[in-house]
Amino acid sequence: MITQKSEHIKLDTELIRKDFPILNRSINNFPLIYFDNGATTQKPNQVIEAITNYYSNTNSNIHRGVHTLSREATEAFEVARKTIASHFKIKNEQQLIFTSGTTDSLNIISAGLSRSVLKNGDEIILSSYEHHSNILTWQLWAGENNGKLKIIPLKNDHSLDYEALEKLITPKTKIIAITHVSNTLGLVTDLTQIKAIAKKHNLIIVVDGAQSAPHMEVDLTELDVDFFVCSAHKIYGPTGTGILYMSEKWLRALPTTKPGGGTIKTVSFEKTEYAEGALRFEAGTPNIEGVIGFAAAINYLNRWGMKIIHEYELGLVNYAQYKLSEIPEVIVYGQSTNKAAVISFNVKDVHPFDVGTLLDKYGIAVRTGHHCTQPLMAILCVPGTVRISFAIYNTKTEIDFFIEKLKKVISMLK
Ligand code: ALA
Repeated sequence: MITQKSEHIKLDTELIRKDFPILNRSINNFPLIYFDNGATTQKPNQVIEAITNYYSNTNSNIHRGVHTLSREATEAFEVARKTIASHFKIKNEQQLIFTSGTTDSLNIISAGLSRSVLKNGDEIILSSYEHHSNILTWQLWAGENNGKLKIIPLKNDHSLDYEALEKLITPKTKIIAITHVSNTLGLVTDLTQIKAIAKKHNLIIVVDGAQSAPHMEVDLTELDVDFFVCSAHKIYGPTGTGILYMSEKWLRALPTTKPGGGTIKTVSFEKTEYAEGALRFEAGTPNIEGVIGFAAAINYLNRWGMKIIHEYELGLVNYAQYKLSEIPEVIVYGQSTNKAAVISFNVKDVHPFDVGTLLDKYGIAVRTGHHCTQPLMAILCVPGTVRISFAIYNTKTEIDFFIEKLKKVISMLK
């Protein structure tokens, strides 16, 4: 049950908000209230300055030159790798590969596993929560190889049915690819249960952390899964950058499927010897500014630490769920007192686009639609939802304003 009681951890949001220049914007003559952080977060000055500073002082290609700028850019890039690896408690920073984002990372994993592990007719388990990017890449493989995708169903409270999971497993099952947090509902997957089942059946675990990494502490040594992926732009960093973590075993064993300059030791027309470690997967000139900006975002978050941030956002989410539960016309999906800072809801008999469009008139940015989870929408029997998702700069005052305007929107639409 959702109550108003929430010990609200104090982040100095007034101070934090000063770091985000976009929060000074007015939208339709109202101060911007940005509740679309699940899609992408806003960027603090510290990230913007790190990128500007890189282009103003250090810009050069990396891992390729002996001149000063190239050495400095390489150093900045590799320091960023260490910073981000340490944030995610990764022992060997070579296990941290930079990609263009979660989707790219998932495509690299599935391409590699389809060349090494997956055989014709094999089965992959996904969950009902999955974002399209953790469906399509496996579906493409399955379509070409007589493969089968099996889906962990939802229970009535919208949590995953872990008992049903074990029944889905057959000798042909090879992989469980699962989100850590539902981008639509904010509900957290119980990876402890998943891991126990996967270990018993010797299955590979791929975790989509796009919506967990922004909101909670992720200790990849403790998590001990085969693969974990996330995007910088949802964690206050730049777009076009993400990470692909893999276990030591896969760092050595996953085949190269995306070759290119930078991934090699030696090349002749007859044969190529690939580099070891992260570089083997980083083809072409990487998004250097993106990686440097991502490290700046991580340093920014670590001023408070993810534990404090998680507790602060949980306070916001529980407050908003409570306030929404007081509005009789509102249906909240996946209500829980222990979730990431994401809430999906609908107003009875009203299309979510109408709610989102009218909220925008008051400067409130929410996401509406299927949230790239059309299969989940089909399970919930809705065309879409209105989604609000919070970040460290959001406040209860903003939630109060949103609730007031939502009530007004409802009265206009009903
Ligand atoms: N995957 C992003 C979201 O959930 C875009 O909104």
